[in-house]
Amino acid sequence: MAKTIYILNGPNLNLLGKREPGLYGHQSMADYIETLRAKYPQINLIEQQSNMEGELVNFIQAMAGKAEGLIINAGAYTHTSIAIADALRAVQLPRVIEVHISNVYAREDYRKQSYVAAVCEGSISGLGLMGYELALMALLK
Ligand code: DQA
Repeated sequence: MAKTIYILNGPNLNLLGKREPGLYGHQSMADYIETLRAKYPQINLIEQQSNMEGELVNFIQAMAGKAEGLIINAGAYTHTSIAIADALRAVQLPRVIEVHISNVYAREDYRKQSYVAAVCEGSISGLGLMGYELALMALLK
């Protein structure tokens, strides 16, 4: 049976490819997800994105019993959202890994705090879109 892995992206990650390309690159998330699907055909890879905090909470709640793993990039909500961290605590998905495309530790101080990291098994930051694939590889182990 195919493993079901979710990728959950937060605000502004729908603009990937257009948004600050010096920081986030030129590839859109839709393109990148297609390359991942082609490379890992054995995985049922589901990507969801929202610009709204409550909707991200709803997505996490709806993953209960379905997701075998979650790769989460909560965007700016990473640094502010107790609600998203609480949803991850409440739902207790089997495995959760945090990804950031940019190196949040090399940027503004307010990006160094992550409420999400505390409820993840690990975090990847600063390796570009490749971070999602590295997280996927970890989830397949
Ligand atoms: C980000 C880093 C966040 O600080 C920022 O608000 C984002 C993207 C990243 O992937 O590097 O929206 O999560």
